[in-house]
Amino acid sequence: MPQHQPGITAPVPRVSRYLSFQLRAGTDVRPALARLRARPMDEGAVVGLGPALVATLDESIEALREFPSLVGPGITVPSTPAALWVWLRGDDPGALVHAGRGWAGDLEKALALDTVMDGFFYDVGRDLTGYEDGTENPTGDKALAAAVVSGQGPGLDGSSFVAVQRWAHDLDRFQGLSQTDQDHTIGRRRRDNEEIEDAPESAHVKRTAQESFDPEAFVLRRSMPWAGADGEGLVFVAFGRSLDAFEAQLRRMVGLDDGITDALFRFSRPLTGNYFWCPPVKDAHLDLSAVGL
Ligand code: HEM
Repeated sequence: MPQHQPGITAPVPRVSRYLSFQLRAGTDVRPALARLRARPMDEGAVVGLGPALVATLDESIEALREFPSLVGPGITVPSTPAALWVWLRGDDPGALVHAGRGWAGDLEKALALDTVMDGFFYDVGRDLTGYEDGTENPTGDKALAAAVVSGQGPGLDGSSFVAVQRWAHDLDRFQGLSQTDQDHTIGRRRRDNEEIEDAPESAHVKRTAQESFDPEAFVLRRSMPWAGADGEGLVFVAFGRSLDAFEAQLRRMVGLDDGITDALFRFSRPLTGNYFWCPPVKDAHLDLSAVGL
C-alpha cells in the first residue's frame, strides 16, 4: 500500500528547519540517495527531489518541472532552482540543528548544503501580519485528494509535489495601513478570521479562492513564519497531487489571468521559488523506484 510522507499531512509543527542542497558537479548522486532511502521516515522530515536531481539520474517524473519565473506589473516572482529539499519538523530547535547536521552529512559527497532557514509557529498559526493562515485548507480525505498522487501506479502513487517560496514582508508598510485596508489586503477580518464578502478583487483570498478555478485548484498549505537579520516573512509551502493548482493560483496573484494583482504584493515579495517531487513511502522508507533506485 503506497503511503505519502507522514509529515505532509501532519499538522504544522512548533519549529521547522528547511535545508536546500545543490548538486556537486561530476559526482554520482546514487550513493547519497541510497543513504537517504536508508533513513526511516516519520513526521520529523519531508524530502523533495528537484528536477535537476531527477534528470541527473536519467529519469523523469512527468509532472515535475522547474518553478516558473513570472513577471507582473511591478512584480517579480523568481525561480531559484535547488536539487533537494529537506523540511525538518519538531518541537525543539536544538534537536533540529543536530538532525540537519545528520542529513547534510549523509548527503555531502554529492549534494552541497546551500540554504538553511528556520521557521516557527506563531500564536494559533498566524502569519506575521497577524492573520490566521491555513483556514481554508482541505482536511481528511479531501487533503489526500488534493495533495497525494493516486492511480498512476507503483512508485508514483503516494508521492506528492511541493511548491516552496520564501516571502519577505515589509511589516512597517503593512502596519501603516488602516485596519480596514489590512483586512481588505487579505480578504478576511483579523479580529475574527471571517471572510469579507465584499472585499476588493485584489484581496488575497479572492485571488486564490480554490473553488473559483476551473478545474478547482485545491492545495494543502503548510506555511510558517521566518525571521532573521535579513528581515521576516513567510516560508510558503503548498503540497499538491500536481503543481498545476498552485501555479494557477500564483499566475492569478501576479495578474496574468485578468490584470488584477494580489494586494499581498504591496507589502511582500517572494525571494525564492522551488518545485520538488516528494517520493512515496514504502515500509517506512522512501520509495525511490520511480527514479530508478
Ligand atoms: C506573503 C505570502 C502569503 C501570505 C502572508 C498568505 C496568507 C494567507 C492568509 C492569511 C490566508 C487566509 C486564511 C486561509 O485560508 O489560509 C490565505 C489563504 C490562501 N492562500 Fe495565501 N498567503 C501567501 C501566499 C500565498 C501563495 C503564494 C499562494 C498560492 C500561489 C497562496 C494560496 C492561498 C490559498 C489557496 C488560500 C485559501 C483561499 C481560499 O480557498 O479561500 N497564498 N493566505
